[in-house]
Amino acid sequence: MVHWKTDDEKSEIQTGESNMSKTISDDIDRVLIAEDEIEKRCQELAHEIEADYAAEGTMPIVVGLLKGSVPFMAELIKYFTQPIEIDFMSVSSYAGTESIGDVKIDKDMDLSSRSKHVLIVEDIVDTGRTLKEVKKLFFNKGASDVKVVALLDKPERRIVDIQADYVGFTVPNEFVVGYGLDYNQKYRNLPYIGVLKHEIYD
Ligand code: IMP
Repeated sequence: MVHWKTDDEKSEIQTGESNMSKTISDDIDRVLIAEDEIEKRCQELAHEIEADYAAEGTMPIVVGLLKGSVPFMAELIKYFTQPIEIDFMSVSSYAGTESIGDVKIDKDMDLSSRSKHVLIVEDIVDTGRTLKEVKKLFFNKGASDVKVVALLDKPERRIVDIQADYVGFTVPNEFVVGYGLDYNQKYRNLPYIGVLKHEIYD
């Protein structure tokens, strides 16, 4: 069937404008941490982490918390020079009467963490609730040691007294997206960390 172009479609062709010309970067107010800074920091973190574990004569099983940790974990593990095992886990929080902050496992690891040194990879430590519960969960599963590396730390928002063992960057109390972090499941694929324009929330 012949499809005659509408005037709007013709004008899109002439001006080169279409819905596809808007990108997710257009929703970003400002870039907080550029891609090359993240890559450099991942390299430093991997070397520091590897040296610490080597000093103890061990290497960890590296467990990424889905989905936010994926780009960070992919970048980080490239710089380990010793063999490591990797796995993923998906958890979500649920609010019981007194149990806000508890987590349930939506997707468990394939490998066993029993008697292993576990390095949890997290996108951001915000209130700290997720981290506290996930650490508890790994100790309950019989892990012999649990450490955490987080790409970002937002200390101003902390409710639970917990720190990641390794932190990429400390960020101000603003909602950030990109490099795995989302807003309504969008913006995870941005190659940098940015602050969303306010009109996106409103
Ligand atoms: P928690 O408050 O430390 O338990 O953080 C729980 C989760 O909230 C993190 O793993 C992130 O997925 C999400 N989160 C917290 N702050 C931000 C943010 O600024 N941008 C995107 N996601 C966030």
